[in-house]
Formats: sequence, structure tokens, C-alpha cells
Amino acid sequence: MGLGYVGLPLAVALAEAGHDVVGLEVDARRVEAVNRGESHIEDIPSERLQAVGRRIEASTRPAALAGTEAIVICVPTPLTANREPDLGPLLDSGQALSGVLQAGQLVVLESTTYPGTTRERLLPLLEESGLSAGRDFNLAFSPERVDPGRTDYTLRTTPKIVGGLTEACGDRAVAFYEQVCDHVVRVSTPEVAEMSKLLENIFRSVNIALVNELAILCDRMDVDIWEVVDAASTKPYGFMRFEPGPGMGGHCLPVDPFYLSWRARQFDMATEFIELAGKVNQNMPYHCVQRVERALNAAGKPVRGSKVSLIGISYKAGVGDMREAPALKMLALLGGLGADLHYHDPFVPQLREPQLASEPLDDVLEDCDVAVIVTAHPGVDHRAVVERAPLVVDLRGVTRGAQVATVERL
Ligand SMILES: NC(=O)c1ccc[n+]([C@@H]2O[C@H](COP(=O)([O-])OP(=O)(O)OC[C@H]3O[C@@H](n4cnc5c(N)ncnc54)[C@H](O)[C@@H]3O)[C@@H](O)[C@H]2O)c1
Repeated sequence: MGLGYVGLPLAVALAEAGHDVVGLEVDARRVEAVNRGESHIEDIPSERLQAVGRRIEASTRPAALAGTEAIVICVPTPLTANREPDLGPLLDSGQALSGVLQAGQLVVLESTTYPGTTRERLLPLLEESGLSAGRDFNLAFSPERVDPGRTDYTLRTTPKIVGGLTEACGDRAVAFYEQVCDHVVRVSTPEVAEMSKLLENIFRSVNIALVNELAILCDRMDVDIWEVVDAASTKPYGFMRFEPGPGMGGHCLPVDPFYLSWRARQFDMATEFIELAGKVNQNMPYHCVQRVERALNAAGKPVRGSKVSLIGISYKAGVGDMREAPALKMLALLGGLGADLHYHDPFVPQLREPQLASEPLDDVLEDCDVAVIVTAHPGVDHRAVVERAPLVVDLRGVTRGAQVATVERL
């Protein structure tokens, strides 16, 4: 259920392992595309989808799930406008499932969520079917660890955590994932599995915030943060490298930690690390825009009317995902200051807000006043950016080694 960044790769892996897969999806265009063999996920080339042919049948109809042995829920878990968990898609899929659930099926939730969701929110919905979890059907939580764009670890080689509602649920879910994962790690409950995913994401969010805060301090102290990170990274134990940047993006890190802080309030706890990391990371686009203003100011130019070219705008290198991308905030701030905005991003052909289209690198560098490297995509000629732009603000440290006065690094 849900053929996105998580669901489609899993569907393909199961089909490649020889299983017949039904892809239930509310977006009819996605359904048609998948059935035509067209993938909308970078990590799944359309050829891979075509190679499994009719072994994946996408549909918008929950009735298509009839006769399946296992059902995996991979729907979005966003935040509401008030930054509270929006379980709407998850509850909708549970509701849809309750109408078609059959005895003997295994249901696994993969969507990232707060501890307690599987047992307290999903289970009651599924039992509206009249079937009982643990007795008539099996239920488990198994967090997804996909890292879009990553090629060194795959679904098969990344250990998969599984927490069943009962012993038998756990057995069943482990056997299911062993079809496509080499190493399945069993934990005692769905809550442990739910919390472990949040620990992983919060760990990243907090460490990124730490290095971002130090980057701002290093800027004031005139110390090169990149050299500091490189130096600290030579320690063979007790240190893990994190790099500063324009802020956090994607579906996970800016969103998931707040599922836990919301849940923690029900236990009279304030999760201060989560809040602080969120605050520091959310401030980064503002800081980065200030750096652009400062660079222009040093060249005697106002932001208003200056041609500001962003190089790479998706939230991470190698993918076109714009969800929560810090470049969006930077574009809004720079637009508000009157900048003449342009961008080059081979992964993002068009933007709706602001309405812009990716231009060839040559064009965005032509007559620009400042080029801002927001996301360093592979294959983009950053050397040409340094050579041709009169000013460069590098938020990703890719110009290290270029000792030119026209380059400002975060
Ligand atoms: N993207 C990642 O890197 C990543 C990594 C780990 C975990 N996750 C988690 O996995 C979950 C899914 O994320 P994603 O990135 O795949 O999202 P996505 O938006 O790429 O895909 C979700 C899909 O579910 C569909 N959908 C929504 N409601 C539905 C419903 N009721 N029934 C059927 N389909 C429905 C949407 O149309 C969409 O195609 C989220 O909880 C996310 O936090 C994502």
C-alpha cells in the first residue's frame, strides 16, 4: 500500500524474488505509470520495473488485495500545519484494509511513526474486520531504512528490523522479509521497532544540528569548519563525520523527530534535543541567505536586482526530491529581497513555487552576480562554477582546494 520511495522499491524487490505483487495506490496517475512500466523513483530505473512485467499489478482498488498473503503499508506520515503527526493516510489505509482483510494475512506497517501507532491506532482499525490480531491475522512493524540515491547499501544488504505484535506475528514477519533481506533483526515488540527508527533519524538530526551550529560559530571565529571536520574525522573511534549544510530536507529528518516530541508530551516529557536540533537546522537557510547578502555586499552590490543563481536545489545530492528542501526557503527569502532568481538542477526540471525552470549551467552562470552551491549533485561541473561566477557561496564544501578570493564557503 503506497507506491512511493519506500513502497515501489519493495514491490520490485519482491517481484524480482519471484512473488506476484499488488501495488495499491491512491494516485491513479502513479498506478497507470507503474502498469506501463514507468518508474517515478530515481533508484528504480524503469527497465527494472519492466523486467518484472505483470508480476507487479498496480491498482487503486483495495479489493485487489484479496488473496494476498502479506500486506505492507508504506504510506506517508507527514506533519499537520501545526507540526503534529498527520496519521490521515495511515488511518485511511487501515480503514480500507479493514474492509478486505482476510484470515491468514500478515500486515506490516513500514511508515515511520511514533511508538504505539501499530498497537493503538492500526490494530483497532484492522480488528473492525471482525478478525483478531495474533489469532486470525498477523501484525508487525518494520521500519524502512531506504536512503534515496545510495547505491552501496540496498534493500537486500541493509539489515531490516522487525517487531511483531505476538511471537507468531514476529515469526511470520521475519520469514516474509527474509525473502528480500539478507539480515533480519528481530526485536521484541512493534514499539521497539517504531522507536528504533526514530532514534536513527533523531541521531542524524541532532548531529547535523551540532555541526551546523559549529559552522556558524566557525564563520564568526574565521575558522574553516570543513578543515575542522576533516581533522576530527581522522579519529578512528568515538567520532562520526557529519557535514554542515543549508539545513535538513526530505520526508524524514525534518518531520519524523516531531512525531516523537508530540508523543513525549503525552508522557509529560519535553524532548529538548529534538526541539533544539529542529531550531538550529531550521535557522540554516536564513544563515545561508545572510552569507549570500554578505558576499554581495562585499562586492558593493545589493541583493535587489542581482542575478542570483542556485546550483542544485533538491534536498540532497543525486535525487530530485524537493520535499522540505532548504533551497525553497532560500529562494523565498532571496525573492523577498528582490533577487533575480535562476537555478540549475539536472534532477529538478521545474519548480512551481516560485515558478522557475532549470536552466543550463552556462546560462545561469552567464552574467550572474553570485552562484550559490546549495546541493552538490554528481555530474555538475563545480569547477566551471568557480571559474566563471564572479562570486560563489559554497554551502557544501565542494570547492575546498580552490583558494580563490571569490569563493565563500559555509
Ligand atoms: N523516503 C524515504 O527515504 C523514507 C525512508 C524511510 C522511511 N520512510 C517512511 O516511509 C513512509 C512512506 O514514505 P515515502 O517516501 O515512500 O512516501 P511517498 O510520498 O514517496 O509515497 C507514499 C505513497 O503512498 C500513497 N498513498 C497515500 N495514501 C495512501 C493510501 N491511503 N493508500 C494507498 N496509497 C496511499 C501516495 O500517493 C504515495 O504514492 C513514510 O512514513 C516515511 O516517513 C521514507
